[in-house]
Amino acid sequence: MIGRLNHVAIAVPDIQSAAALYQNTLGAEVSEAVPQPDHGVTTVFITLPNTKIELLEPLGEGSPIASFLERNQSGGIHHVCYEVDDIIAARDRLQAEGARVLGDGEPKIGAHGKPVMFLHPKDFCGTLVELEQA
Ligand code: CO
Repeated sequence: MIGRLNHVAIAVPDIQSAAALYQNTLGAEVSEAVPQPDHGVTTVFITLPNTKIELLEPLGEGSPIASFLERNQSGGIHHVCYEVDDIIAARDRLQAEGARVLGDGEPKIGAHGKPVMFLHPKDFCGTLVELEQA
């Protein structure tokens, strides 16, 4: 059911220094930082030949990554994102298997402008999983 790895998301305390690290030290193609107030994060996308890295910095009060960064103060891998052809069909199949979808169970429009949903990390090997409709 799942397809390509769309991105790996890394939560960081300082997105400018993280973007500079990827651009200068690792020599990657790095986007501008984009505030995403609807999602409580600022994002930088790093384009690799076979996938993307998404840097996330908390934005505003109650950011969904704030508690993660309290536990991981120098940053860390926050989630992985897999592509699916049909996000509603994927949700229905996963819920039938007993997996928990976070939030109200309805897809949201993610940082790439496509429908996304998140799956409970306890159901997926301790890893927060994002599904994005390709
Ligand atoms: Co993501």
